[in-house]
Amino acid sequence: MRLTLHVWRQKDARDKGGFETYELEDVSTHMSFLEMLDVLNQDLILKGEDPIAFEHDCREGICGSCGFVVNGVAHGEKKGVTVCQLHMRNFSDGDEITIEPWRALAFPIIKDLVVDRSAFDRIMHAGGFITIRTGGAPDAHAIPISTESAEHAMDFAECIGCGACVASCPNGAAMLFVGAKISHLGLLPQGQPERARRALKMVEAMEREAFGACSNYRSCEAVCPKNISISGIARMNKDYRRATLAGATPADGKKR
Ligand code: SF4
Ligand code: FES
Repeated sequence: MRLTLHVWRQKDARDKGGFETYELEDVSTHMSFLEMLDVLNQDLILKGEDPIAFEHDCREGICGSCGFVVNGVAHGEKKGVTVCQLHMRNFSDGDEITIEPWRALAFPIIKDLVVDRSAFDRIMHAGGFITIRTGGAPDAHAIPISTESAEHAMDFAECIGCGACVASCPNGAAMLFVGAKISHLGLLPQGQPERARRALKMVEAMEREAFGACSNYRSCEAVCPKNISISGIARMNKDYRRATLAGATPADGKKR
């Protein structure tokens, strides 16, 4: 296949940035999208040019490292996959492809297609965990969990923190991500003791970052590679409201 790529190039956060055009010959339909970029980068390096910076690790849709916008859609138009799982057989000879980074105030561009998603880490640090005593591992069946709860929690635990939801939201909202984390832990028995505190702390941490508010566009759900449901946002709002009505504080989750 012959392809024309229009790729966003930006040296650093201060650089204005702009699109560069690259012509590619002999692109195999068996390549993944990232392999296609690897080949282009190899070529750029051989020519003494700066390769295109993009994030990746597992290349199998698990780690959440990869992510950029392909032809205007976060992770590309193929539903339910990350950009590392996108293959060139989804494109046709002669196609023009536009590639650009996540565009969101809360995710400043570091270089080319790489953005700073540490805002997600700060939200997780605020409460996206279950506190346990260290020591010997408990027996796997020590805490009975119904199949229904386990399955439902797993639906939300699939979130890989890629940030596509934020990038596709006209408001740059992080609610699908935060809703997924709060729902995942709130559906398990181990998550109950800190449930109120978790909702308060994570929502308040989200509000300290430069994310917008949810207006029910549902663009997040449409592009999420893990098909996370916006019902997680409803669960998050419910937990947050319940915690504030009960007078819990972010500091200790107890009554004011
Ligand atoms: S909710 Fe979906 S789109 Fe958002 S970070 Fe998680 S996996 Fe990515
Ligand atoms: S590189 Fe790990 S999800 Fe894409």
